[in-house]
Amino acid sequence: DAPPIICLDGPSGAGKGTVSQLLARRMGYRLLDSGALYRVTALSAMRHGVSLDDAEELAKTARNLAVAFEATPPGEPARVILDGSDVTAEIRTEKCGDNASRVAVIPAVRTALLQLQRDFRQAPGLVADGRDMGTVVFPDAQLKVFLTASAEERAERRHRQLLDAGIDVKISDLLKEIKARDERDMNRETAPLKPADDAHVVDTTGLGIEEVLDRVLALAGRD
Ligand code: C5P
Repeated sequence: DAPPIICLDGPSGAGKGTVSQLLARRMGYRLLDSGALYRVTALSAMRHGVSLDDAEELAKTARNLAVAFEATPPGEPARVILDGSDVTAEIRTEKCGDNASRVAVIPAVRTALLQLQRDFRQAPGLVADGRDMGTVVFPDAQLKVFLTASAEERAERRHRQLLDAGIDVKISDLLKEIKARDERDMNRETAPLKPADDAHVVDTTGLGIEEVLDRVLALAGRD
């Protein structure tokens, strides 16, 4: 039998990353941060001077990705290694996130990353974090959760995260970026961001991380 999977999909800033980590730790499952694969693809393209308009070269970049996720204890964010060097911090920049959402619209890029993602399905189970985990990558998952929050709240959360990292940017700029990214993620033709038919939609606006985690654990039958 295939190991169990819990999918956490939703727009950026809905709290998926943190909730996925905590959930994986609680369940003792592995963690797939699928966004990291799109970010690494974008970074690799930038490093090799591949234009973000060149679909064919971008697909080739995704197919030949020399990426490794360094094993960490369950639920901890993996260190991301590209071409032998640690890019864990570099792929987190706004620029990389924005470029990731541009390469993510290309169907051949998505296809190239599909098997890589499915290989994460290993015993005792997997928490998969992304946009299309429940709709495309793991349609047979045991539990699918779609986390949402208002764009304003997501911009505020991102603002706090960046401040904690010593980076001060205007909330209004973050809000603009978040809306542009949502627009691109929801309106693309291949694997657009939307809840799977059998997903549980959880609106996290006004909820703290622990409350969100409790709701997901309850859905997983672990409360
Ligand atoms: O989640 P994260 O912000 O790291 O994702 C970066 C971008 O990668 C997203 O804006 C989205 O366009 C793309 N992505 C995707 N499918 C996924 C995960 C991320 O298209 N499963």
